[in-house]
Amino acid sequence: PAPGWSIDADVVVVGSGVAGLTAALRCEAAGLTTVVVTKARLDDGSTRWAQGGIAAALGEGDTPEQHLDDTLVAGAGLCDEEAVRILVTEGPDAVRRLIATGAHFDESTDGGLELTREGGHHRRRIAHAGGDATGAEISRALVEAVRARGMRTVENALVLDLLTDADGRTAGVTLHVMGEGQHDGVGAVHAPAVVLATGGMGQVFSATTNPAVSTGDGVALALRAGAEVSDLEFVQFHPTVLFLGPDAEGQQPLVSEAVRGEGAHLVDADGVRFMQGQHELAELAPRDIVAKGIMRRMREQDAEHMYLDARHFGAEMWEHRFPTILAACRAHGIDPVTEPVPVAPAAHYASGGVRTDSHGRTTVPGLYACGEVACTGVHGANRLASNSLLEGLVYAERIAADIARAGNTLHARVPQPLPVTERPAYPLLPPEARFAVQRIMSRGAGVLRSEDSLSEAADRLHRLHADARDALDENGKTAEPGVDTWEATNLLCVARVLVASAQRREETRGCHWREDRPERDDTTWRRHIVVRLNPDRS
Ligand code: SIN
Repeated sequence: PAPGWSIDADVVVVGSGVAGLTAALRCEAAGLTTVVVTKARLDDGSTRWAQGGIAAALGEGDTPEQHLDDTLVAGAGLCDEEAVRILVTEGPDAVRRLIATGAHFDESTDGGLELTREGGHHRRRIAHAGGDATGAEISRALVEAVRARGMRTVENALVLDLLTDADGRTAGVTLHVMGEGQHDGVGAVHAPAVVLATGGMGQVFSATTNPAVSTGDGVALALRAGAEVSDLEFVQFHPTVLFLGPDAEGQQPLVSEAVRGEGAHLVDADGVRFMQGQHELAELAPRDIVAKGIMRRMREQDAEHMYLDARHFGAEMWEHRFPTILAACRAHGIDPVTEPVPVAPAAHYASGGVRTDSHGRTTVPGLYACGEVACTGVHGANRLASNSLLEGLVYAERIAADIARAGNTLHARVPQPLPVTERPAYPLLPPEARFAVQRIMSRGAGVLRSEDSLSEAADRLHRLHADARDALDENGKTAEPGVDTWEATNLLCVARVLVASAQRREETRGCHWREDRPERDDTTWRRHIVVRLNPDRS
């Protein structure tokens, strides 16, 4: 059947993290009829798990120019300098507006913001909340603001596909909704502007800091819609994720960089610090360098993890400054006050995503992207710590301004949207394929990659796709539509493009580490890998 229900709006925002809710609040403030749809509850998603904080030149003596320099260095030659300049100059005011919206940040004794350091930052410029619960506080404040304004939201709504009109312009999205009364089952929000803020794709790997909902839905939708996607090979592995055993799967507890920012040491199995001498910033080097340092020492010692030693903080500092991490460690039987914490790298952040310009516009008219799903150019080959919440804020505001500028002309651009079909034209994967994709990716396209490991991953992913395609061709059947089948299908879609991009980039740069091509090659590879699929294939 055609969609069971539909909603009309000026703007539909897909996702409810810092980027999505900021875009929605600003669109609503500009007088646009705005609907927020989100896959789980409004406060689910990656934002609420962010620990360290939000970076901005807010401290005495700090300047946007210094923040720009640190961001460009971390990005390893692939940042779009103009996009970074926008981020760092508009960032401080965007944080102040977030505070005005209701977010409470930790303050120092003089009443100013208490700022910490993280990897790659030469200054204390990370604002934080609740010690190490920054994302939770930002999420709380934004969700409350959305509710206080009575904005229209649809929860438990997995986005399926982009609707376009006969001219290829955005006309809305289709959704699969569960248990939300009048908006149950497959439906559509018709709107001439769609803001993708669906977050990342960490679940493409077996072990990740990302919550279960981070399945690359926005990138997969954009690929199916024929939008350009860029830099997918640059997956950032966070160096210090609590090590829970070699077979641990799914979301793993993060141990924030801010712990190192406050003076924790990385030590090996013999208790020896090993980052000194590898980089002038030692444990506070950019994230890819620390992750590589850890992986190297793990290999040398044939160890499964290294340790983060912050016993010298003492109980009071742990409890006051890092209560979330302390609780997570203790829940797993580790007491950081009295023992070093076992840590290893795990998938953390997609530096690439749906390609946008400096107003968040993708290559499909009317389709915008912001936050982790987007590739605005600010992260280059490796995101600087705590730039992501800031990017979500700044670029969401720019998108809202751009849509508001279009104003009354928005609807003039929208002829009748095409009808929603019950089944997608591409093969849906069975839910258990999710785990197959994760294992293939962790084995072949993780922290360390090579042509051999990537080709094997590509072949195995291709077979998963071919099996599903054969089933569709032979009997017209595919897995029963549902959230877990669509998630598995999206994971496979983004995994294939990620691997193809990683194969293509025959060098080591930023967080893309090719063992068979260990050098950075600025002659050939100071450029981006941009992918666009034919709209009719997955
Ligand atoms: C952390 O707290 O270490 C995470 C910060 C980030 O990913 O930007």
